[in-house]
Amino acid sequence: WQERQSDPGRWHATAIREMSHTLARLNAPEHTCRRRALGNLFDRATLQDMRPDVEDHVRGLLDALAERLRADGEADLVPTVSERLPVRTVGHWLGIPAEHHAHILDFTHRQVHAQELLPTKSELAVSAAATAEMRAYFTDLIRRRRARPGDDVVSRWIRHWDAQYPGDRAAADRALYHLVMFITIASLETTATLLSTMVWLLLRDPGRWSWLRGHPEHVDNAIDEALRYDPPIHLNTRVAADHTVLAGVPVAKDTMVHVLYGAANHDPRRNEDPHTFDVQRKGSHLTFGGGAHYCLGAALARLEARTLLTHLLKRFPDLALASGPAYAPRMVFRRMTSLKVTT
Ligand code: HEM
Repeated sequence: WQERQSDPGRWHATAIREMSHTLARLNAPEHTCRRRALGNLFDRATLQDMRPDVEDHVRGLLDALAERLRADGEADLVPTVSERLPVRTVGHWLGIPAEHHAHILDFTHRQVHAQELLPTKSELAVSAAATAEMRAYFTDLIRRRRARPGDDVVSRWIRHWDAQYPGDRAAADRALYHLVMFITIASLETTATLLSTMVWLLLRDPGRWSWLRGHPEHVDNAIDEALRYDPPIHLNTRVAADHTVLAGVPVAKDTMVHVLYGAANHDPRRNEDPHTFDVQRKGSHLTFGGGAHYCLGAALARLEARTLLTHLLKRFPDLALASGPAYAPRMVFRRMTSLKVTT
């Protein structure tokens, strides 16, 4: 579909084409084959193994937060905690050295323009430069892992894709690059925004924070209510492969359809009184998508959110908002850039 479009500036831009090879943009049978090869990435046993590391990362980050609060009387939760936990968690799992995390965050924030609804020419240029850095980084990561394979997840993927493409190292490397790159970037801003949003929504009403401290059995509900109320991704786009009818609406072949997750989550037919943030709601949401492309990292994002919130509530009973939030000017991928807190 992209190749048939007449606007070369948009659909043929380097950064956009790069994303068209990732899991999220593939169709069956290629998508089925790649997704099946990954299996259930974050099954119960894997999450159990990751839990102590996530706890360690949270403790370390909350030490840094406490230090900032002691020194300055207030601290910005976003750069101190929310943006660091996802990159540490995924970085540790993939065996990415801590000194590379800042570089990865930097190109991720610039690359994301290509995934916005209507990127401008200058945003596409920023995204193209970030894409080149991203490609160089992950290509090198795979090359280094090939030189020193181990029992880590990337080495296991290398063995799998080498076996799928015997004698064609370049094809295996292409599949590996798109996989490692996409899983990394898909996990960062999304989870960081969830962590910041959840704290913001709970602190907006001071009574809510202390109520949840007394009712820790509702922590999971509170996280899903934050996911419903203000999802990190607001919009997803599909193109109709055939003439079809969706919920009574005719959709012609090749029509672009935008799914508005935020609006769907606030549909009163699915969630009563939808604009009220209610930590006891047990509502439903589309924040992780649905169907064949359902988010592969949902369980990991929830683990990070649960660990952070549990520790924050225990360690900072008097946490309060100081200022913010502030957001990057985006439409599809929401990114909170600042949320100042105090005690
Ligand atoms: C709060 C955090 C997150 C949110 C809100 C989120 C949201 C989404 C959404 C909306 C999709 C598209 C689903 C669809 O098209 O139906 C998606 C896909 C995906 N997500 Fe997430 N995500 C989050 C965290 C993560 C994490 C932590 C990872 C990996 C460690 C991850 C990996 C992926 C991958 C690989 C896909 C593509 C799946 C496919 O196309 O088969 N996500 N995510």
